[in-house]
Amino acid sequence: MNWLIPLSDIDFGPEESAAVLSVLESRWLTMGGVTQAFESEFSAYVGAKHSLAVSNCTAALHMACLAIGLGPGDEVILPALTFVATANAVRYTGASPVFADVTSERNLNISPESIEQRITPKTRAIIVVHYGGYPCDMPRIMEIAKKNNLYVIEDDAHAIGSELDGIKLGNWGDISCFSFFSNKNMTTGEGGMITTNDDGFAEKLRLFRSHGMTTMTWDRHKGHAWSYDVVELGYNYRIDEIRAALGRVQLGKLDANNIRRRSLVQQYREALQELTPEIIVPFEDHPGISAAHIMPILLPVGTDRTRFMESMKANGIQTSIHYPPIHHFTAYQNITDAILPVTEDVVQREVTLPLYPSLSDEDVVLVAKTIREVLALPA
Ligand SMILES: Cc1ncc(COP(=O)(O)O)c(C=O)c1O
Repeated sequence: MNWLIPLSDIDFGPEESAAVLSVLESRWLTMGGVTQAFESEFSAYVGAKHSLAVSNCTAALHMACLAIGLGPGDEVILPALTFVATANAVRYTGASPVFADVTSERNLNISPESIEQRITPKTRAIIVVHYGGYPCDMPRIMEIAKKNNLYVIEDDAHAIGSELDGIKLGNWGDISCFSFFSNKNMTTGEGGMITTNDDGFAEKLRLFRSHGMTTMTWDRHKGHAWSYDVVELGYNYRIDEIRAALGRVQLGKLDANNIRRRSLVQQYREALQELTPEIIVPFEDHPGISAAHIMPILLPVGTDRTRFMESMKANGIQTSIHYPPIHHFTAYQNITDAILPVTEDVVQREVTLPLYPSLSDEDVVLVAKTIREVLALPA
């Protein structure tokens, strides 16, 4: 499909090509010096003590669940309004996801009240998802966690560069997981990062990432080790030097691109307020700084969403849905008794509009005008 305005686009240029070429020419492709440099730059950016680059955010979430010791019989509270990977990671360990509701139609983040209602003696952890990059109420959630002796994992897939109270997201919870998938604010194609300020977790995560081995091929190449022991049941969740090189360049562009994203969101808000005030644009005046990963709107109650999206498509504008909620999926039918009134409402009305740094100011106006025309079409 040749979209006039696609949903998302990457910001790749000659710098990314040069970085990849230089790795190829170095003849060292698996985790090595470039990955180490990427990890320290990411730690400096987020402010976290430890950063480990991994093959994707799903792997990071799985390792986070393993590191806090989840297993059969344990429960983890998380929103149903997220990508399925957030809940799958819990299930990989044998633990059970328990879905909490989101706050309101204007705040699509997990509700602290709903978290409290879902706590049982089996609850071990909370996974927060900063929807669209807008920070969850971390002071409240950390307080609930402390009071109930729960771990907090941050799913920061949308939130690279987001901040709350002057603290970058990825620093609030015990362990945080980032995605560099191709539609994310910075991308390596597939890729991710896991961060923590806890030395013990960092040590475990390092083992999980690479088969539970005590030394790496890189250490042996550098002449630092001859052999290794295997001390954990680990995985191969490593990144490679090619992706790490892309990540370093993309991290350098992140702040400027996030500023552009936030400016586009503001322009959308103004254009939609003027042209289609019946549409809700969530997260207005939301606390903190958002990475503005996606541009969600809520259609008026009763609007035929599929027809709306089809009409936008007929005008060359790509839209999407974030998300079909997890508890509606066939693979989740038998494992949840979730009653989530706010989630049930918003998942019927949410539509995601195009958002990426090279989207033009004129594109935003065109999208808003097209929405007005499409909403005015006779039923
Ligand atoms: C909220 C959320 N969590 C987890 C993931 C999984 O990330 P990855 O594709 O890097 O495994 C995504 C990716 O789209 C996501 O949006």
